[in-house]
Amino acid sequence: MNVRHFLGLQDAGGDALAAMINDAIDRKAARAGKPKGTTDSDAPLSGHTLAMIFEKNSTRTRVSFDMAIRQLGGTGIIMEAGSMQLGRGETVGDTAQVLSRMVDAIMIRTDDHAKIEELARYAEVPVINGLTDLSHPCQIVADLLTVVERGFALPGLQVAWLGDGNNVANSWIEAAGLMKFTLRLGGPEGYEPDPQFVDRARQAGATIEVVRDAKEAVRGAQVVVTDTWVSMGQPGGEAHVAALQPYQVNAELMGLADPSAVFLHCLPAHRGEEVTADVIDGPQSAIWDEAENRIHAQKSVLLWTLGRL
Ligand code: CP
Ligand code: NVA
Repeated sequence: MNVRHFLGLQDAGGDALAAMINDAIDRKAARAGKPKGTTDSDAPLSGHTLAMIFEKNSTRTRVSFDMAIRQLGGTGIIMEAGSMQLGRGETVGDTAQVLSRMVDAIMIRTDDHAKIEELARYAEVPVINGLTDLSHPCQIVADLLTVVERGFALPGLQVAWLGDGNNVANSWIEAAGLMKFTLRLGGPEGYEPDPQFVDRARQAGATIEVVRDAKEAVRGAQVVVTDTWVSMGQPGGEAHVAALQPYQVNAELMGLADPSAVFLHCLPAHRGEEVTADVIDGPQSAIWDEAENRIHAQKSVLLWTLGRL
């Protein structure tokens, strides 16, 4: 069998993505009430080791993958790229081949997406995208899980994305193409998502609209999503923040969404910038479930890449 990398949602496809969500729901229910570090009763990845490489900061991705591999019965090794030989010029290809002889899967958070593609090209074990400048597929597995848990069906769902058309937005667009939901992105000129993601999702039959008016983006939506205005590695600055200001998710904007709408944010959040405190801490916010679901989603991703799903 070919190695199953997970560089984007497309690597899995719609059926596997649905299977991941279902498996996460089942596993989450089966271990309810257990201490978080205990192993799932079937320990499906017993004896397996996951290497996690970080070239950027992380709280959720780091802890959720570490807990995920533990709960599946395996072991994790966390490495900061700067303290690896990778940080002193050892090539990505050599690193991939060495780690492939030592561990069963590699998760990496990096900047340039080409780097993870190179890692996957040389790796003989699955490589998982823990965020690049282009995409953040693991986050979206958790987000879709959260949406399904709240009782929404994915086909036909109406999702609004507000603000910067960043890596998380790109993965939402990819998900829309695979799961056939409608995504309306509201943002300023110059902050659009990657056009290749938009084209692919449209070709797959999803309705993807990129609009300038925040109200139009959010009207009638069942899920309202935003993210930081300045992603890691972006320069930001006053003009950047000013351009995105009209897309702040506040009570007035949430009021235009469907009354049953949930608010999502991958976190970390900047209260008072991309979202107001009353929305993120309010009754429609599902952010803490969303954050917890990173563990359950990451377990499904690990199981899929290792051929157990
Ligand atoms: N949402 C997310 O990926 O969070 P971290 O940057 O803390 O990993
Ligand atoms: N778009 C954000 C996501 C952080 C999880 C970033 O890349 O910094």
